[in-house]
Amino acid sequence: MMEILMSRIISADEVKQINAPTAFARSIPARILYAPEVYDQDRRQFRNEWMAIGFGADVPEPGCMKPIDFAGYPLLMTRQNDGSVQVFYNFCPHRGMPLLKQATKQRRLSCGYHCWTFDLSGELVATPHIDGIQKSTFDGQDKASNGLHRVRTEMWFDMIFVNLSGDAPPLLDHLAPLVERIPASNLAAAKADGEFPEYVRDANWKVVIETGIEDYHLPFIHSTLNYNESYTDENGGDAYQGFTAVWPMETFRVRAGDDAGDQSDELPLFPTYAGKETGESGIFFLYPTGQLTIGANHIRLTTLNPVAADKTILRHSFYYCGDAATDPTFAGTRKEVRDFWEMVGNEDDDLMRVMQSTTRAREEAGVYGSYSPRWERNLHAFHQHLARRYERV
Ligand code: FES
Ligand SMILES: [Fe+2]
Repeated sequence: MMEILMSRIISADEVKQINAPTAFARSIPARILYAPEVYDQDRRQFRNEWMAIGFGADVPEPGCMKPIDFAGYPLLMTRQNDGSVQVFYNFCPHRGMPLLKQATKQRRLSCGYHCWTFDLSGELVATPHIDGIQKSTFDGQDKASNGLHRVRTEMWFDMIFVNLSGDAPPLLDHLAPLVERIPASNLAAAKADGEFPEYVRDANWKVVIETGIEDYHLPFIHSTLNYNESYTDENGGDAYQGFTAVWPMETFRVRAGDDAGDQSDELPLFPTYAGKETGESGIFFLYPTGQLTIGANHIRLTTLNPVAADKTILRHSFYYCGDAATDPTFAGTRKEVRDFWEMVGNEDDDLMRVMQSTTRAREEAGVYGSYSPRWERNLHAFHQHLARRYERV
């Protein structure tokens, strides 16, 4: 793989063939799907972007703290006294000791090494014995610049995003097309159920997106899903890509395991679908690591944590309309929704593993894929987005 280090990740000729019309374009080179050097480059590039790392529901109340290692960055999500979410690096600014190992709710945080103590806002508040026995401060001690290292944090809906470099445009400017696209009234009504199903995929994060961004494979891989002629591309340029489709409301009820006849535990519809015959489903990938799944009666947020060149951890958070998110009456239907997506995900799990397994051979053989002009326009758009990422390197 030395040639990657010596030259560009993607060549000018490869960029040209990707940018042909979908029916005639050739795919991205497979080396970007497995090479450790490209994974390292991805990690560096994530710093300059808005990386989706978790959910507001992870830290529901002031004092809640939850560590997460995301793309190899040790981070700590916290809920502040004013209700805002703030992310810090999860290591001590003194010698770099890791701070929290698991989620907790507390007002202060003490390092396990020399017991420096920080408040919820990250400020250094105590340094026991720092200048001798019982001498916990010294003249001129600079506590202000020895607090926890803050990370630029913004939220959209319940998704926590961080920009490690600190100089990306504001999140809501970046996500503007999506913010306009998803009805705000539905998001305002959506509440989390507090469950975070997590799955490990033996695949590069780009393979995970590849296998989720088109509907071409549905009837072949997912026995319960099928083509839908209303399938529409959603192209948000370098912010997101995905697709939507319109389904009869019955589809959403079936996905929630509703048994006809008993409507007492039928999930309520989000406001824009109330009284309608049909609803919209959709999957949007918020580059690089976020995913939004919408439906008439539930919403799912997902983070794609690229933990290695060939391993990605998916974490989900589910949202329902109002009290249906927590009311025990709906516990069974909420589980049906999680089970439905777990079943679909298990089918994709095998697919991702085997697709990852041929990446090196595809690169060595010099084989580039091609696209369905009907079903893979947004996969093509994703690959064009990737080409732009690596062209800038
Ligand atoms: S490393 Fe944390 S107090 Fe020393
Ligand atoms: Fe799939």
